Amino acid sequence: MSILKGKNILLGVTGSIAAYKACEIVRLLTKTGAGVQVMMTHSGTRMIGPATFAALSGRDVLTDLFPKTPKAGLEHIHLAETLDAIIVAPATANIIAKTAHGIADDLLSTTLLACDVPKLFAPAMNFRMWRNEATQSNIAVIKQRGVSIIDPTHGQLASLAVGEGRMAEPQTIVDALQKLLGGKQDYYGKRVLITAGPTREPIDPVRFLSNRSSGKMGYALAAAARERGAEVTLISGPTALEPVAGCDFIAVETAEEMEKQVREKAPDQELIIMAAAVADFRIAHPETQKMKREGSTPILKLEPNPDILRKLRPITDAYLVGFALEMEEGRKNALQKLREKNLDAIFLNYADRAQSGFDKETNEGILFFKDSEKEIPFELQSKNSLAHRILTAIRNEMSGREKRKG
Ligand code: C5P
Repeated sequence: MSILKGKNILLGVTGSIAAYKACEIVRLLTKTGAGVQVMMTHSGTRMIGPATFAALSGRDVLTDLFPKTPKAGLEHIHLAETLDAIIVAPATANIIAKTAHGIADDLLSTTLLACDVPKLFAPAMNFRMWRNEATQSNIAVIKQRGVSIIDPTHGQLASLAVGEGRMAEPQTIVDALQKLLGGKQDYYGKRVLITAGPTREPIDPVRFLSNRSSGKMGYALAAAARERGAEVTLISGPTALEPVAGCDFIAVETAEEMEKQVREKAPDQELIIMAAAVADFRIAHPETQKMKREGSTPILKLEPNPDILRKLRPITDAYLVGFALEMEEGRKNALQKLREKNLDAIFLNYADRAQSGFDKETNEGILFFKDSEKEIPFELQSKNSLAHRILTAIRNEMSGREKRKG
């Protein structure tokens, strides 16, 4: 679960061309379960309409210190008591200067002065304005007073000039907020590859062989790793789920396609979790035309798919984790797979329990580790919560290995 869940975040949008990117920030924050209150400066509203933010956030957008129909009390003072954090993105040179000097001449600058909560600014402006000594000294002042700054990046700016001044990416801003509010970042910067979902093996152009995997466990692992700061690549077979925000998402269909993508990405990874339910068999000779009902009943000949995981050890130093979905003798089979596939850990879950395994919201199981020979049981819980616990256990083992290596 994200540290942002249930938090009340104020997003201040000021008058930079990058204002349109703030829509994505609202979307990402909302996805974490945070409530988002958008507040815009007048120049902000010239860049993008408040109606867009109202629709995305599900709340009225605040723009005026003196609204036409004043409510009881003062909006900024009331807000000061309910907020958990403020993001200003994009932050213009103007709002940075006003914050540095305590100027309170509109709703946003007044709210910033009145609210004693963690603040995060994502500046965006022309590179000359950013480099200007006045801006740099204002930045130094607000930093010194505890405001977090996500430096703008180098690239093409609105004026088509190239330089430092582009607002950081929305996901980077949301990550920084999680960090600021104390979210666990134990995977920060780690490259993690996760596979998820079933594979589809074609019979003819319209039919396929597949299985009941929903992809939920793999997607939950990807979202949890992302939240904890990892650079996640998610390679997924066909599922009904939305790609996980902030991940490098690669969609595949067949086991062969999944193998190609996994092998291409594997050498660079630090952790690989194969949660995908790869079909063990494929049709030996798929038809190129749709098979007809008329004529003799076809007999489908199968051939084995490549075991993607088993062949990974020689091409990567990543910590390798597999999933074993078992019915009988789960423990024995999982331990055998741990050995035979040359893995560092394997998660045993069950195909024959009512509330766990394939296509369920919840799961349970046992995680076995090779090095420490530890086995950690996990009781029935949501796949999201389980994903975090599995990642914590893996991180502990990985740290143990890093320490031993010196
Ligand atoms: O052998 P079994 O299919 O039970 O192994 C399960 C583990 O191996 C899972 O982590 C799964 O993603 C992976 N696997 C694979 N390639 C296959 C079959 C399974 O990588 N062809």
